[in-house]
Amino acid sequence: MTLFQRVPFRLKTVDDLLAEAAHIGVALPFSDDFSVFRRPKTIGSITLDNRFAVNPMEGFDADNNGAPTERSIRRYDRFAAGGASLIWFEATAVVPEGRSNARQFWLHEKNVSQYAELLARTRRVAKEQCGHDILAVVQLTHSGRYSKPDGQAAPVIAQHSGALDPVTGVTPETPLIADDALDRLQDDYLRVAKLAAQAGFDGADIKSCHGYLLNELLGSHTRSGKYGGSFENRTRFLRTVVARVREELPQWIVTSRLNVYDAVKQPWGFCSMPEDYRRWDLTEAKRLVAELVKLGVPLLNATIGNPYFNPHYNRPYELPVRGATAYDEHPLIGVSRFCEIASEMQQTFPDLPMITGGCAWLRRFIPYVAAGLIKDRKLAFFGLGREAFAYPDSVRDILTCGEMNPRKVCTTCSGCTELMRRHQPTGCVIRDREFYTL
Ligand SMILES: Cc1cc2nc3c(=O)[nH]c(=O)nc-3n(C[C@H](O)[C@H](O)[C@H](O)COP(=O)(O)O)c2cc1C
Repeated sequence: MTLFQRVPFRLKTVDDLLAEAAHIGVALPFSDDFSVFRRPKTIGSITLDNRFAVNPMEGFDADNNGAPTERSIRRYDRFAAGGASLIWFEATAVVPEGRSNARQFWLHEKNVSQYAELLARTRRVAKEQCGHDILAVVQLTHSGRYSKPDGQAAPVIAQHSGALDPVTGVTPETPLIADDALDRLQDDYLRVAKLAAQAGFDGADIKSCHGYLLNELLGSHTRSGKYGGSFENRTRFLRTVVARVREELPQWIVTSRLNVYDAVKQPWGFCSMPEDYRRWDLTEAKRLVAELVKLGVPLLNATIGNPYFNPHYNRPYELPVRGATAYDEHPLIGVSRFCEIASEMQQTFPDLPMITGGCAWLRRFIPYVAAGLIKDRKLAFFGLGREAFAYPDSVRDILTCGEMNPRKVCTTCSGCTELMRRHQPTGCVIRDREFYTL
């Protein structure tokens, strides 16, 4: 790593973007045929009228009981009115000790009605404002080594990691979560998935990404016992939960936001090349997805990296989070990497609709890259993350005006991530500054 050098965003035209990509030597999917966004797509029994998704974006604005608040409702109203046909609800803890923050969503028996209200309202707003039915998936999570249920670190780890322990405050004495605790945790996933179905969600994401517990299990090469070591053991938790939810809720969607590549040094990562963790080998990711398809997973959200450890892989930015290690890489390399990896996955499984994202750095040029991906069948749905905070109406503008307003776009300043790190409610500190300030 060399010292971080900011690459100020100076691209004014599509030609500038393509010239910049050529100059730094990266391939970018590209098309100006935005009609592809209107191609309907059916998932399960629901036909979606456009190819945009809101990716899960935590707001850290739940009440003490884990239920959505007025702030949460405002966020989801904005997402719903924004035009995306698929809304992937944010990380929602299945057990209180697995929360990353005391204000993270946490779904349980005593607040399921509040989730049902939030969801019904989100559907209503989408119908009234955009005239469509949305697909609503909720992301079920355990924060693993990033658990801070009361604001203090309380890591739950699947393995010790020479790469991650030193930067996550994990000491050699920190115990590993035991196999029988993992067995019991599967019951919690099943219980909360049933609550999510009761609340009216169309499906649940058994979150396996971004360094959280189920993602860490996928790369637990050094763990012994039935959840570590071999591919079969490392993927056992995810496969078992998916199979159990499918068995109990056969008509329902079970999916995963899956890290198909961690970019963490071996033997501590999933799908990193042993000789150079900065390169990927998707063989195991593909094997896992093939098994998930056999289990009946009809949709996949493909992602990479870890926002705490290698944010330039996970969310390419113009400015890093203050005080964080910053990597000297042109953000367009990160965008291109995300697209390349997601495309490889989608093209391996052409019948499994996939979503990806990681492209906020592109600002108003997002639709050109999204259209390129969709047109060439390198991706079924394009997901908006930080853009959904900054400019939730961007999808409507793309679909109705054929462009995004450059004055409304996300500037990838990392302000939303920084709010998160400070355990404050999360949103855009530039475009929504009356509600969110650092
Ligand atoms: C403030 C914030 C909250 C996020 N919350 C979640 C989350 O709940 N679950 C998840 O899988 N990813 C979460 N992400 C990651 C985003 O979904 C997305 O993958 C990332 O921002 C890169 O995509 P983008 O370039 O479209 O923003 C979050 C990102 C940010 C910045």
